[in-house]
Amino acid sequence: MSKNIIVSNRLPLQIVRQKQGYKFIPTSGGLATGMKSFHQHGNSLWIGWPGIEQDLIDTESWVSLKKSLTRDKFIPVPLLKKEMEDFYYGLSNECLWPLFHYFIEFSKFNQSHWESYQKVNQRFADKVLENLQPGDRVWIHDYQLLLCPGMIRQSAPEVTIGFFLHIPFPSFEIFRIFPWRTQLLFGILGADLVGFHTYDYQRHFISSVKRILRLEVNYNIIDYKARKIQVSTFPMGIDYQKFEDAAVEHIRQKKEEHSEMFNLLKEYKTLDKSNKIILSIDRLDYTKGLINRLEAFEQLLINFPQYIKHIHLIMLMVPSRSSVPHYKRLKRETDRTVGRINGKYAVLGWTPILYYYRSMPFEDLIDLYVNADIAMITPVRDGMNLVAKEYVATRVDNDGVLILSEMTGASKEFFDALLVNPFDMEDMVLKLRQAIEMPQEEQKERITRLKKRASRYNINKWSNEFMRTLKETEALNQDETRLRMTSSVVNQLSLQFKRAQQRLLLLDYDGTLVGFHENPEKSIPDGELYTIFDVLCSIERLDIAIISGRNKEFLEKYFGTYPVTLIAEHGYQQRLVHSSWEQKDVLREDWKQHILPVVETFTDNTPGTFIEEKKNSLVWHYRKSDPELAKVRVVELKTLLTSLLPDDLKIMDGDKIVEIVSSRVHKGVAATQLYAHKKYDCTIVIGDDVTDENMFADLPEEVVKIKVGTKQTLANYYFKSHADVRPFLRLLSE
Ligand code: UDP
Ligand code: G6P
Repeated sequence: MSKNIIVSNRLPLQIVRQKQGYKFIPTSGGLATGMKSFHQHGNSLWIGWPGIEQDLIDTESWVSLKKSLTRDKFIPVPLLKKEMEDFYYGLSNECLWPLFHYFIEFSKFNQSHWESYQKVNQRFADKVLENLQPGDRVWIHDYQLLLCPGMIRQSAPEVTIGFFLHIPFPSFEIFRIFPWRTQLLFGILGADLVGFHTYDYQRHFISSVKRILRLEVNYNIIDYKARKIQVSTFPMGIDYQKFEDAAVEHIRQKKEEHSEMFNLLKEYKTLDKSNKIILSIDRLDYTKGLINRLEAFEQLLINFPQYIKHIHLIMLMVPSRSSVPHYKRLKRETDRTVGRINGKYAVLGWTPILYYYRSMPFEDLIDLYVNADIAMITPVRDGMNLVAKEYVATRVDNDGVLILSEMTGASKEFFDALLVNPFDMEDMVLKLRQAIEMPQEEQKERITRLKKRASRYNINKWSNEFMRTLKETEALNQDETRLRMTSSVVNQLSLQFKRAQQRLLLLDYDGTLVGFHENPEKSIPDGELYTIFDVLCSIERLDIAIISGRNKEFLEKYFGTYPVTLIAEHGYQQRLVHSSWEQKDVLREDWKQHILPVVETFTDNTPGTFIEEKKNSLVWHYRKSDPELAKVRVVELKTLLTSLLPDDLKIMDGDKIVEIVSSRVHKGVAATQLYAHKKYDCTIVIGDDVTDENMFADLPEEVVKIKVGTKQTLANYYFKSHADVRPFLRLLSE
């Protein structure tokens, strides 16, 4: 039976060394808590690091620890102390984490950390490959493993891979700072489906793919190495039922069954009806906006002293990445600020902030959630924030208020929270006051709507949606209406070709015989191509034509000596074998005078574009310009030209070009005329561009039509890339 392989840096449980032996404790953080239920309820294997330096474990203990992990379908990837320093603390948490959360000045770019990141990603990929069986799907998680999808794809090209990023994807302007940005993007593109929490992260990622890799993107589909990669948004949910059930159970318990903490909190609230508990729970991380939050709380006490003794701020901070200097510094600053506020405002029997620096077991978390009147969740940047959703799920009496930062992914779903800008101190204080004073009726209205959202889009829905889309992407790449030119198809066609009496080969040039280059002048034939042509031209009963958008000077210069038909400017100019060039259509002399100034204006306004003037056409090239700006300009230019062009001219889209050509001439007309010259019993046409579609459309059914690339086409066969064309031509000439 096929399975899902989950891959994340951490397993959801970690090994902790004790005085005697080791124990397992649960891992904190959104990824681990969220994916745990997916793992428990499905047929899956989870590959990840067990949370301890491997150097600290003796061989004998490791055998038994590994055994118990394997029993629960966890496959550990051991990391040595040095690897933790370089891969985990170094590149993952001192470089990618701050950069992706817009803390640019915290990011350290260190070559040896990057090398370790590559090595460890390869180790994770190898572990997946070791455990991979036909039909398995792989689901890779988060910023520590951005190279892993590409590494797996390299060794297992057909496997289905999903990737989900649990943190924000920054804007292009930030992402471009990362020195190894190209490798990271190619790494991610090993996946078939790339998922983000919010649409903003999705569009930032797509923008980087377009601008840095200059790949073709249609809406949310990226064309890369003849695969279609889908990019989509899946806001992660929680195991809603688990939190709600636990809350109901805790509330129902008798006083003597409650924990001490539960009873203390309850007591404080019953002491005076106006007493309120404000809760905040986070990993101790600079992205969580802890200092801003403490300062807002202090400001509330200053502005509204009537709350003194009547509110408590409970801050649970879970230790995290404590070897990283910025985390150490934050810990000191937080301790100082809490100490200062408590020292300044505490009175006998009341301390404003109750501060816990530890990880709490699930039951204690529930006690905190159910007793909190207000949850104050105000990160300065957070991919999603599951704590906000967990608080909502525990509101079984439909009361409570959620104050939520606009900078969290969750804020994109939780419109009924009190949304706040964590940098706006005045707003933070106002929202705190509004939360404290909020009437029951309003609390109920807001919480009910929040609960509806959190319960509907829960963790099951999230993972099901991701998996459903992953399967959909598989189907996208299996277009059954066309045949891929696999070796058996290639052999069969070459046999058909060799057996035929009269043969015709119609070949496009750019993107078919040579690859694309930013500067078309540099895409010239090389020695290998000439060798192929030398042999092809010596084959009897074979006619060859190069049908291109290039001008006649170019074709004459590079192919003039061959006994082949040359068709330039999509059919405008033609040179039959042993003949001279002739013009196939005549346009009015003055047309360029009117059109050229219009196109020039667009060239001036769109940096990176240029005009190529051919005898009978004008080409506007935008390959080098900003892809997003170009997209807008193409629409504008085409709209304007449509109203300007006379009937004998038309606009033709090509690969990163807009061409103005005669409406009476195209490659289809030229190819059909050549085909009609003789009675061919084997004709093969190969092309990659939209302009070649005219040949596929106009030539009759018995012609073998081959598209280069996987874009939509009328051809009935396809090559994955232009690199596959030459071996095929060589085979024909054997
Ligand atoms: N959490 C935990 N132990 C604690 C406190 C919190 O396991 O002592 C869990 C909490 O229930 C939540 C997760 O840690 O599921 C935090 O996820 P969130 O998305 O809010 O933030 P992240 O830590 O991923 O940045
Ligand atoms: C966030 C990240 C996770 C990470 C977690 C805890 O949720 O998205 O990938 O596991 O924080 O951080 P840690 O460094 O302890 O794994």
